Amino acid sequence: AKVIQLKWEVEYKHWSPDCIESVVMAINGTFPGPTIEATAGDTVNITLTNHLHTEGVVIHWHGITQKGTPWADGTASISQCAINAGETFVYSFTVEKAGTFFYHGHYGMQRSAGLYGSLIVHEAEPHRQPFKYDGEFNLLLSDWWHQNVHRQEVDLSGVPLVFIGEPQSLLINGKGQYNCSIAAHFDESKNVCNFTEKEQCKPEILQVKPNKKYRIRLASTTALASLNFMIQGHKLEVVEADGNYVKPFLVDDLDIYSGESYSVLLNTNQGPPSGNYWISIGIRGRKPGKPPTPPALAILNYYPMTPVSKHPSSAPPVHPVWDNYTHSKLFSNSIKALTGPKSYLNYKPPPLKQDRRIVLLNTQNYINNYTKWTINNISLTLPSTPYLGAIKYGIDNAFTQQSPPDHYNSPNYNINYPPPRDTNAIHSNAVYKLPSNKVIDVVLQNANMLTEGHSEIHPWHLHGHDFWVLGYGEGKFSDANETLFNTVDPPLRNTVVVYPYGWTALRFEADNPGVWAFHCHIEPHLHMGMGVIFAEAVEEIKKMKVNKEALVCGLTGKMFMNSHRD
Ligand code: C2O
Ligand code: CU
Repeated sequence: AKVIQLKWEVEYKHWSPDCIESVVMAINGTFPGPTIEATAGDTVNITLTNHLHTEGVVIHWHGITQKGTPWADGTASISQCAINAGETFVYSFTVEKAGTFFYHGHYGMQRSAGLYGSLIVHEAEPHRQPFKYDGEFNLLLSDWWHQNVHRQEVDLSGVPLVFIGEPQSLLINGKGQYNCSIAAHFDESKNVCNFTEKEQCKPEILQVKPNKKYRIRLASTTALASLNFMIQGHKLEVVEADGNYVKPFLVDDLDIYSGESYSVLLNTNQGPPSGNYWISIGIRGRKPGKPPTPPALAILNYYPMTPVSKHPSSAPPVHPVWDNYTHSKLFSNSIKALTGPKSYLNYKPPPLKQDRRIVLLNTQNYINNYTKWTINNISLTLPSTPYLGAIKYGIDNAFTQQSPPDHYNSPNYNINYPPPRDTNAIHSNAVYKLPSNKVIDVVLQNANMLTEGHSEIHPWHLHGHDFWVLGYGEGKFSDANETLFNTVDPPLRNTVVVYPYGWTALRFEADNPGVWAFHCHIEPHLHMGMGVIFAEAVEEIKKMKVNKEALVCGLTGKMFMNSHRD
């Protein structure tokens, strides 16, 4: 294993992600940020300097479990203080496991502002990989608004709430085409625009040779959009999800929610060994806006037989209808862990029983007329002293010591209607304390939001862990639904979706001391309080070595100052 040393500078920069000039958060002058390529077991050291002038920053390494280094998780107010303008902070962590990951800002809505990039971890020994391929591509998927993110934050926090609306563009590796569809050649209703060859927004071209196998890595860091991915005329074989191998299965298209990653294998023996084909991502799970967000396109190019400049010979493929949830659920339920006797498969099925089950009701509530997302009636707010420091040093007044509830306490709660106006929903920064090595179940219970007849998709992401996805169900969860759990080969994931009016059950072992966020990965939802905090193995945290540089703010900062004085 090696040590990878990186020097990064974060700054605002003019950029044209969808051919329209905007401002993005760039790293070392590029958007998206540089791709980190590592090998399992490597240590990654990133010396990050904040050049934002007037704003703090942190970066989270999504999918990396941070065993022994919870201070490097990159979550403002949770694992560390925001890095001040002009200051430098060094992240250092080990990437234990091969897989497709990414990183992103985790302070305010900086992910929406474009602070993200790919993190790819290769197997240390090729024989550990349960499949073979001749080449690989990496596609980082995101969505883009022309409205600046500070404005979005203010709009979302107002009375009445002003929603950000649907994205103007979808991006593949940071590139899209606003109102200038490269597919326009096939649609009379659209103006064939002067498709610009601007370097910053010209579509990706994946060059392949016939009769080969390619691995395509996909990761979604969208702020809002749930996506569907397809390649015209080609079936795809799903082999990896969130850095975990899955039992291979073939699909025509696949859904990917914010926070998720997949690898698919593309066999280039599926058609005439020449031509250009569309690669398309479209939106799922949200009613199209006006005008609808067009799909983002890239091109699969068989070379050297076909010139890149030639457009594919037919219109782009059509994605499943946005509210075809049957299709989405079929895909979710098809994902099983790859198990087996081979030495490279270290998959372990879940313990059969949980020690504790936390049921989290997902809905909206009004709190003093403000619209908030609430979990068991609590909208998450973050303290000014990072939890990790407050817990390590026993600073009890840094956050509410009372625990949030393990259940939404009204057994008669009707998930099919908007919440009653008098639920007494509150803001809180309370945490769930998870004793060391206990088996924890979390059931996400979806419900109607404030608008009648509406329940939304929420992709939930857990920091510090993978978890087993035990199952999905319709309606209200009851303990009798345990019979539906898959305890044989449930996939390990770090992100899982809960469908409208349904539930999702997951299980993990509290074996990673640290303070971990568990939240909806939709950026505006998190901003409106949709998350909880797990403080895991508190006694171990107290004994752990923590980089003090991470804690020089709030009450821990004051504590360090005072100890210097004497
Ligand atoms: Cu990728 Cu807490 O998020
Ligand atoms: Cu959500």
